[in-house]
Amino acid sequence: MALIDQETVRKILDTADIVDVVSDFVKLKRSGANYIGLCPFHNERTPSFSVSKSRGICKCFSCGKGGTPVGFIMEHEQLSYIEALKWLANKYNIEIKERELTAEERAAATERESMLALNDFALQFFEHTLHETDEGRDIGMSYFRNRGLSDAAIRRFRLGFAPEKSTALSSEARAKGYGEETLLGTGLCARSERNGGSLYDRFRGRVIFPVFSVSGKVVAFGGRTLKTSKEVAKYVNSPESPVYHKSNELYGLYQAKREIVKKNKCILVEGYMDVISMSQRGVENVVASSGTSLTDGQIALIHRFTPNVTVIYDSDPAGIKASLRGIDMLLAHGMNIKVMLLPDGDDPDSFAKSHSLEEIEQYFKENETDFIRFKTRILLDTLESNDPIGRAGVINSIARSISVIPDRVVRSEYVKECARLLQTDEDIVRLQVAKYAAEAADREQHRPISEQSERSENSENSERSERALAGSGSASAYLRAAETEVVRLCARYGLLTVAQVVNAEGDMTDLNVIDYVSAELAADELRLTNEDLDRVFIAVQNAAEAWRSEQPAAEARAEEARRRFMADAAETIASAGSVDAIRRKEREMEEAADSEAKNHLAEAAEKFLTTMLGADPDPAVRNLSTTFASEKYVLSKIHTKGVHIPSERELLSDRAPRAVCGLKIAILQWREKQLRANLAANPAEAAQTLEELQQIRTVIAQLARYLGERIVLPR
Ligand code: UTP
Ligand code: MN
Repeated sequence: MALIDQETVRKILDTADIVDVVSDFVKLKRSGANYIGLCPFHNERTPSFSVSKSRGICKCFSCGKGGTPVGFIMEHEQLSYIEALKWLANKYNIEIKERELTAEERAAATERESMLALNDFALQFFEHTLHETDEGRDIGMSYFRNRGLSDAAIRRFRLGFAPEKSTALSSEARAKGYGEETLLGTGLCARSERNGGSLYDRFRGRVIFPVFSVSGKVVAFGGRTLKTSKEVAKYVNSPESPVYHKSNELYGLYQAKREIVKKNKCILVEGYMDVISMSQRGVENVVASSGTSLTDGQIALIHRFTPNVTVIYDSDPAGIKASLRGIDMLLAHGMNIKVMLLPDGDDPDSFAKSHSLEEIEQYFKENETDFIRFKTRILLDTLESNDPIGRAGVINSIARSISVIPDRVVRSEYVKECARLLQTDEDIVRLQVAKYAAEAADREQHRPISEQSERSENSENSERSERALAGSGSASAYLRAAETEVVRLCARYGLLTVAQVVNAEGDMTDLNVIDYVSAELAADELRLTNEDLDRVFIAVQNAAEAWRSEQPAAEARAEEARRRFMADAAETIASAGSVDAIRRKEREMEEAADSEAKNHLAEAAEKFLTTMLGADPDPAVRNLSTTFASEKYVLSKIHTKGVHIPSERELLSDRAPRAVCGLKIAILQWREKQLRANLAANPAEAAQTLEELQQIRTVIAQLARYLGERIVLPR
């Protein structure tokens, strides 16, 4: 993938107008300084989606989604950061200059890119064969027709046909200039052992199901035979390649993602035909694992769009039992899993064909079962009525499933439910769950740190379950509120001045919030313990670096605003009458112009920061900073005509030290808590512990006094 150069990125970010971008998808109405409309991310009847032109962000006050133009496009179109930038560039006719790649990057990129290009060529070749050749129409098209597929579905899933002739694709591809390496690399061709090592097509005389990546690139193909003979493989699939990692793709996700987000639910089936038939019937949030059990990568992929998954089984008990374990993985990711059995003899494909959309929806409503309940029932059903050992096995197996659920509250609910279903004591189940959880925690501890953090990154759980994962006893959970306040101020007002300080040359210079906070943390060697907040903080520091090159231009614009203000004021000043009055008026106006320019600059800085953070490739950074930027504050100018209530921005030189001080106190209190625990646990060290406790209390008292003295009341 080519990279976009930094200058073009800035240009795109500067050009994209939030109202304009959102209006492509949402009908907006003016409402005061903002615009509102129906949220495109969830179904609602009264508008709670608010767009602020001046801040350049949008946000749903009901479901919380939104962001800057890039963030909005990423979320709405389900694109990557780079793809979203390209989308915007295209909208605004901005030419994308791609950054020069290094030699290695280029080699890797060209390999991947030529494979993707070849796959795209093959896609068109197969589609063309299906629709435009006699062979394709007579064999492929009539097969699809026989299976009841509509033209629309065939086009939507870009189905095709591979001719019988063993060099049909390869000779055309070669004529187009694709090299042997690419043909072999994608797996579209293989080298024959005989025939002097010549190439032949992997897909011959088969109907073709292209597999798309989330962003819509063709990464692989599945080819189904039309023969019923048991001798031939039913499906031939593309092998793993630099562009296709089977365990990270899901069939149908590209077509389904929008609907998955909208319905906030993903339906999981087994086969290509299942996806297509369901989609054709109007159930569009369906993806297939392509006959294998789910992988972590695929789960993370689904989780990007929804935490709710319904797995459909055809009612073959052996198959069901085999797949139960895979579902424990979904639970471990904090997903809500439901399970549904189809009527005897039906698979999703046949079921979709023999029922109307209403009937299907009705069936879902009545038959979706919570996974753990389902598993309990299946396991109990296979037991002999009086088999205590088997019964204990069932309890263990269910407890294992429950133990992987990250959310403590959910876990506890399940314990109760299962005890009831298994007609056993709650405490027995709870004990087993605790045992498995402890075992898992033990394994987790022995995994490399890099893997551990990866896991918490992947599971975008609710805050509650995140905290449950960290354990109620962790420092990061204890310090989260205090750290949030510090990072929030940095993310929102980071570039604004909090104080004037004397620098090394003895001159007075402005100190902004970011530098102030960084210096304070560094002086006490403190680090943020919440990883996501720390990432925002780092992004803020990077943005502050970038601001340096923007600042002169912004200052010039602020100066321009001051001049305009004074020019407009000339008449007022002149008409003041006496020379004294004119002087007074002039000073007054100059002061007003000063604050006008200052405001102008502050607003530009705030907006710059919001834009940069909102376009950060890291979703955690984008989401947190959008939340910070769109939060409303207690202090408001609205209902206080005549009385000036200072905005948070004006109170910054109080707020920033207060937040830092609050964090330091929280850290000390945490330490105090640890020491107290230690006091009870290690009486031998009591003297030392007590001394340290005493010191900590003194420092806390000092900090608290400092906070108390700094209370600034609105004038
Ligand atoms: P199915 O046998 O259920 O296939 O396998 P299907 O897609 O429903 O096909 P029809 O309805 O018989 O035409 C489910 C999935 O398992 C994978 C495919 O992804 C298939 O869609 N599979 C199956 C293979 O990869 N190879 C095989 O030989 C069989
Ligand atoms: Mn089938």
